Amino acid sequence: MRHFVLASAFAPVLAACAHSSSSPETPAYHHRFEHAEHWASQFDDPTRDSWQAPERVVAAMRLAPGMVVADVGAGTGYFEGHLSRAVGQSGKVLALDVEPEMVRHLQHRAASEQLANVEARQVAPDSPGLESASVDRVLIVDTWHHMDGRPAYAARLAAALKPGGEVVIVDFRREAHQGPPPEHRVEPAEVVRVLTEAGLSARVVEVGLTEQYVVIGAAR
Ligand SMILES: C[S@@+](CC[C@H](N)C(=O)[O-])C[C@H]1O[C@@H](n2cnc3c(N)ncnc32)[C@H](O)[C@@H]1O
Repeated sequence: MRHFVLASAFAPVLAACAHSSSSPETPAYHHRFEHAEHWASQFDDPTRDSWQAPERVVAAMRLAPGMVVADVGAGTGYFEGHLSRAVGQSGKVLALDVEPEMVRHLQHRAASEQLANVEARQVAPDSPGLESASVDRVLIVDTWHHMDGRPAYAARLAAALKPGGEVVIVDFRREAHQGPPPEHRVEPAEVVRVLTEAGLSARVVEVGLTEQYVVIGAAR
């Protein structure tokens, strides 16, 4: 009985330990994204819209004019036009990527598509380089599985959110026809766990994508 009482008293602590950041992380899938033109032929293939449904992703983000949104791992800029129009001239889109060539491509594309509210920046692999409480939304599409140290990264994202801010992570389902090798596919439950440990209120949101899941983590 005594043991039962003790165990009950410590149950919340034990539960927290069981779900602590020491839980195993799906290993990151590492490779470079040089030669932006090559990747553009994949990421901006016109057939992508049919399974990516960018309008559904943007609707799930609940963007409003004037918001600041960071697109982490922006790649060739597939989402930037959608984000730019959703936040309007008074808003800002920060298109962030680790690859210098992607950042140059993002800059040229924003200029040629006259997306004046899009700013491309090169970032370090372990940090989005965002100031504390500076963004309303963070979008991360098909990039979470490339990252090492996701718990620490999630904590940096949480710190960068303004009150009411949200992180939106879109990545490949285990059964998707494309995406990283199976051993590098991160389950949505793992994304929810990591965002929750970072202090966000996280849940899977069903928006009807066939290849990807969507997890949203909201600032508490
Ligand atoms: C598969 S692409 C996705 C591009 C874009 N989000 C899309 O949906 O078309 C992944 C991108 O993430 C970038 N990336 C990988 N690791 C990153 C990190 N730690 N921080 C920021 N960008 C990263 C890569 O350089 C690449 O451009």
